[in-house]
Amino acid sequence: MEKDKKHQLSVSTESYYTQTQHQIQENLMSSSFGTLFRISTYGESHCKAVGVVIDGCPPGLELTEADIQPQLSRRRPGQSALSTDRQEADQVVILSGTENGKTLGTPIALQVANKDQRPKDYGNMRAIPRPSHADYTYQMKYGIRASSGGGRSSARETIASVASGAVAEKVLREKYGVEIVAWVKSVGEIDSTGVDIETITRKTVDQTTIRCPDPNAAAKMESRVAELKEAGDSIGGVVCCVIRGVPAGLGEPTFEKLEARLAQAMLAIPATKGFEVGSGFAGTRLQGSQHNDPFVMKDGRLGTVTNNSGGIQGGISNGEPITLKIGFKPPATISLPQPTVDFEGEEVILEARGRHDPCVVPRAVPIVESMAALVVLDMIMRQEARAALKQRCCNP
Ligand SMILES: Cc1cc2nc3c(=O)[nH]c(=O)nc-3n(C[C@H](O)[C@H](O)[C@H](O)COP(=O)(O)O)c2cc1C
Repeated sequence: MEKDKKHQLSVSTESYYTQTQHQIQENLMSSSFGTLFRISTYGESHCKAVGVVIDGCPPGLELTEADIQPQLSRRRPGQSALSTDRQEADQVVILSGTENGKTLGTPIALQVANKDQRPKDYGNMRAIPRPSHADYTYQMKYGIRASSGGGRSSARETIASVASGAVAEKVLREKYGVEIVAWVKSVGEIDSTGVDIETITRKTVDQTTIRCPDPNAAAKMESRVAELKEAGDSIGGVVCCVIRGVPAGLGEPTFEKLEARLAQAMLAIPATKGFEVGSGFAGTRLQGSQHNDPFVMKDGRLGTVTNNSGGIQGGISNGEPITLKIGFKPPATISLPQPTVDFEGEEVILEARGRHDPCVVPRAVPIVESMAALVVLDMIMRQEARAALKQRCCNP
């Protein structure tokens, strides 16, 4: 009896350790995202290339580089006087997973070469962790780090999300009629007004360099960013996103709620500091009688009169447009002198060299759209898998 108990204990301890080991291994794969439409990304800021492998893309989809390039070009550095001066064409190459312009259902590998590397620019920063960047934390975590450009923490990593997001978006647009549009809401204290979430398009957004559809606010934002770039300083801002045409029923409560997955996706973008869905923090100042979204009949289905919920209730989409806000901090690398300490703790004045974005929000717009696409397509595929299982179980 005693022996059995001991045996039981050792068996369960062993299986506990095996299980834990699996969990640890799974959690170490932190460069993968998604369940059925799953991406794995690779590359550092100044290595030979950055890229992504997509697993789970449906077969038979027409796909060439031309479907992916426009979003990468909206993200690329050096696209305007308001962004970093690093010049990269960011030309994508499809390495696998398609033949004769059609997806095969097998893993799709997408790659972009790094061409304009200047590791020498980072010479004065090797011994000094940049305040509010990731140099110190990467060094503490791995005991080693890429010596220039932020390595993996660099925004170059977002090429992978944008390239794979463009594929997800193509599926969403063509098979499900889902549309995603993001734009710059504010830069510092300068806020925009009058944006109609039902009609806003990427064409309208791209009419201004800063990607804000309110022309008066856009002009003020652009001159503020130009002024700060000239001064060697930086500034933060907010990006809004609307996802239209999402069917009701997406999201996997409890821990895979739609807004939880969207929050994870958005907060995985470098420099993000805040995430709101629907009324967000402003909603906390309202009463229930002001905040509730009454139901009404809309095109033969239940819809809501207002949309303070931001299209998600109980972690599940309700068929209304999904509305998000993502807050970005001022980029950490500034060329103004900053008193700090080096890795040895010696006091130094850091004047960062290199080419840096004075404000990330115009380039963050396609990144936000892409992360949204990755989440929504994955959730659609999960809901369809659930429906297929239900069909099989209930109608054997
Ligand atoms: C599009 C984009 C461009 C960026 N460009 C810069 C830059 O030029 N300089 C910089 O210090 N940070 C830049 N960042 C932010 C850093 O990558 C980020 O702040 C850093 O990795 C630390 O991570 P954290 O801010 O999320 O804590 C950029 C972020 C995005 C989304």
